Amino acid sequence: MSSSSSCWVKILLSVVGLVTCLEGVNGGVRVSNTSKIEEAVNFHLYYGQTFKVIKNAVDGKSYLLIQNKSRMATRTRYCASRIKSFVIPLSNFSADTHFFPVSFFELLGILESMKGITSNNLASECALKLYERGETEMINRNDPQQFAQFSAHFVSDTDQSQACNFANFVPFGEDNPLQRAEWIKFLGVFANLESRANQVFDTVRQNYLCLAKVAANKTNSFKPIVAWMEYYNGIWSFTKETYKLKYVEDAGGENIDNSINKITYNVSNPDDLDELHAILCTVDVVIDETFALDPAEYNQSTFLQNVNVEDKSCFAFLTNQSLWRYDKRVQNSTALDWFDGAVSQPQLVLADLIEALFPTGNYTTTYFRNIAKGEGIISIGANMCDRDTSNPMDPTTIACQ
Ligand SMILES: *[C@@H]1O[C@H](CO)[C@@H](O)[C@H](O)[C@H]1NC(C)=O
Ligand SMILES: *[C@@H]1O[C@H](CO)[C@@H](O)[C@H](O)[C@H]1NC(C)=O
Ligand SMILES: *[C@@H]1O[C@H](CO)[C@@H](O)[C@H](O)[C@H]1NC(C)=O
Ligand SMILES: *[C@@H]1O[C@H](CO)[C@@H](O)[C@H](O)[C@H]1NC(C)=O
Ligand SMILES: *[C@@H]1O[C@H](CO)[C@@H](O)[C@H](O)[C@H]1NC(C)=O
Ligand SMILES: *[C@@H]1O[C@H](CO)[C@@H](O)[C@H](O)[C@H]1NC(C)=O
Ligand SMILES: *[C@@H]1O[C@H](CO)[C@@H](O)[C@H](O)[C@H]1NC(C)=O
Ligand SMILES: *[C@@H]1O[C@H](CO)[C@@H](O)[C@H](O)[C@H]1NC(C)=O
Ligand SMILES: *[C@@H]1O[C@H](CO)[C@@H](O)[C@H](O)[C@H]1NC(C)=O
Repeated sequence: MSSSSSCWVKILLSVVGLVTCLEGVNGGVRVSNTSKIEEAVNFHLYYGQTFKVIKNAVDGKSYLLIQNKSRMATRTRYCASRIKSFVIPLSNFSADTHFFPVSFFELLGILESMKGITSNNLASECALKLYERGETEMINRNDPQQFAQFSAHFVSDTDQSQACNFANFVPFGEDNPLQRAEWIKFLGVFANLESRANQVFDTVRQNYLCLAKVAANKTNSFKPIVAWMEYYNGIWSFTKETYKLKYVEDAGGENIDNSINKITYNVSNPDDLDELHAILCTVDVVIDETFALDPAEYNQSTFLQNVNVEDKSCFAFLTNQSLWRYDKRVQNSTALDWFDGAVSQPQLVLADLIEALFPTGNYTTTYFRNIAKGEGIISIGANMCDRDTSNPMDPTTIACQ
């Protein structure tokens, strides 16, 4: 059907159709599909006829995205403290990969448009491959001038001076796993890929909610108790991060009591150690988040050394072999996929946790490894990229029920 005849059909169909067609005539702009935010709370989207606005709810800053074919694109340019403009769809971009989940680009299918990176600490095998082939340029992070050649520069670590083309991408600020994953819509807006972003998020969300529903039914009498804990500088502490607690609830487990997780435990202090010992006697599953310079070297012995408790006889998570770390997928000992692929595909994290809480022995985890069973790491390399990088990566759906 030609565009003019489809236009007449639309006029006949509805007033909305009329408006759409007039826009088409006016700016020669085809109206792309829109995204609607359903879970995330830290950004909002607004659609105009030839532009879109993303508003960041945390810092109050707005991005005005102007369709490249509109007249506004040639006339308007903002770079003020509260508003910046971008011409879309972006023809290229760079990302501050010191800390950035590039898997969102892969799911959208725009990884090859990422022409610049600031670090090769990448947990994506295909992003590594593009870098090794010379298709992605390494940019000096301390020289913002160098970013000017790209239509946008995406950053997740927002604690740096920002040039006009910087856009803050902050899924990490959200409080639950699905909210974080919905940030794919933020990036989709820059590429006019709303329909792809919506499709990926719907798939991820449906699978996540299905897994959570099934997990809710797995408990017979008591829910397994799960502790996310971390050792640093002689002190053990339990997580306060909401999204991690949410994962445990959704996996059919129970978090250790709030009154306990507020407290830190100094292993050199006998009273603290006694209390820590007592708490650990009540826990069924431990997730050891302790930072390791070389994750491959961190095993159950390291954990026990750090805990420093003589009598481990009451530790059910040891008897039952349920001591986990989220560093299974790691590149060059530094880049954990936990901070990349796990953010865009939370259904995989949830499936891992369900296996940790209700073991079938039948499921291969993606991000978690069980150090109580001596499970090691998987070292990510460019040679593991086994798909055509010009195509979008599809989210992985886990069989549910
Ligand atoms: C909008 O969405 C419809 C249905 O999902 C699709 O057929 C169409 O190609 C999309 N249009 C654009 C511009 O993406
Ligand atoms: C607008 O973007 C599209 C898609 O990238 C491109 O094909 C087209 O040449 C651009 N048009 C202008 C006027 O820049
Ligand atoms: C990025 O796209 C802009 C606008 O189309 C273009 O001027 C620039 O040369 C491109 N930069 C790179 C590094 O490809
Ligand atoms: C949960 O269990 C109840 C009772 O055993 C059953 O009726 C229901 O269908 C189950 N739901 C799911 C999602 O498995
Ligand atoms: C832990 O306790 C020891 C002994 O009381 C003390 O020397 C050390 O400073 C404490 N560590 C911290 C980080 O507070
Ligand atoms: C843990 O690693 C150390 C050295 O890397 C090794 O000596 C030890 O046997 C390992 N322990 C277990 C339980 O695998
Ligand atoms: C070990 O796990 C099983 C189920 O996986 C549970 O029935 C049992 O009580 C656990 N044992 C201990 C010591 O926690
Ligand atoms: C691995 O990381 C180390 C330290 O972070 C760095 O010096 C080295 O260049 C990296 N190796 C590769 C192949 O990227
Ligand atoms: C293992 O997986 C297969 C196929 O998904 C299933 O039929 C079987 O019941 C599972 N076994 C256990 C022990 O869960």
